[in-house]
Amino acid sequence: MSTAIAQPNIALIKYWGKVDEDLIIPATDSISVTLDGFPTTTTVTLTDGPTDTAELNGTELHADELGRIIQVLDRVRHLSGMTARAHVRSVNTIPTAAGLASSAAGFAALAMAALDAYGLDTDRRDVSRLARLGSGSASRSAYGGLVHWQRGSDDRSSYAVPLEWRGDPLALVIAQLSAARKKVSSRSGMTRTIETSPFYPGWVTSNQELVHRALDAIESSDLGTLGELTELSTMRMHASMLGAEPPLRYLTAESFAVIDEVQRIREEGLTAYSTADAGPNVKILTRLSDVQTITDRLTEEFPHIRFLSSGIGQGAHLVAGAEVA
Ligand code: PMV
Repeated sequence: MSTAIAQPNIALIKYWGKVDEDLIIPATDSISVTLDGFPTTTTVTLTDGPTDTAELNGTELHADELGRIIQVLDRVRHLSGMTARAHVRSVNTIPTAAGLASSAAGFAALAMAALDAYGLDTDRRDVSRLARLGSGSASRSAYGGLVHWQRGSDDRSSYAVPLEWRGDPLALVIAQLSAARKKVSSRSGMTRTIETSPFYPGWVTSNQELVHRALDAIESSDLGTLGELTELSTMRMHASMLGAEPPLRYLTAESFAVIDEVQRIREEGLTAYSTADAGPNVKILTRLSDVQTITDRLTEEFPHIRFLSSGIGQGAHLVAGAEVA
């Protein structure tokens, strides 16, 4: 039995679209920050049962969700030469499928716990590759801090690497506009965008360019440029989705109201840049020292919205002798 903990990550330069659906090889690189809150704790126990089983927050998983977990476990069995099935118990502290990347933390924790349970090395690069098979963005939660998922071209070459940030400590403020399950999963949203959006090729080329510019900004601790590139990548990703048939619209009028307010806050001289994923929630990149001011400012404007905040956290790690409660 092995237990691992991992935390969600929020992409600054986004991932949207795969060139290989089975191996989850992305069309572009992406860059994220790993949060220090909202952990997922996952225990993998080998069993002598006939099939793999899994539960999330006490509810048995089936169909697609279980299928993705089995895909990860099958790879670990292949690598270890073992045939035992497993029971997976996972507990998370973030609303599932609300655009807050709970699947990223979940699959990173699963990858690390499964490698350990089957007696394999839990080298973070291996965790990253394996987590990728469950959910692309999970490959980035293997590491803490700022993380670069290098798209690569096959299973061996597509993994995340940690980046060094020498600037002021970063943080995220999260405007939780909805905790509801998203209507279109990122997996099918990506497929629809690739198959029907005339903007998709432009998204791919321009986003890969943003990755290079963001790496330069990180290298020179330039938070202002990194924030602007974050907003650009976010809008270009959503533009590619809006071009799909039928259009994919994850952002609501309220998301845009928060995005507008973030811009006003910035014009007042504070550091704040917005981003959003496959859901209406808006995440605001800022300095750790500005979190309170920004949260107060947004709460004043949107008293009915719940604002959460998080500093930057560490990568997936094993917990000795512990089991999910
Ligand atoms: O890995 P998935 O299938 O959860 O896709 C994540 C896609 C976005 O969250 C929208 C962007 C990203 O890079 O995390």
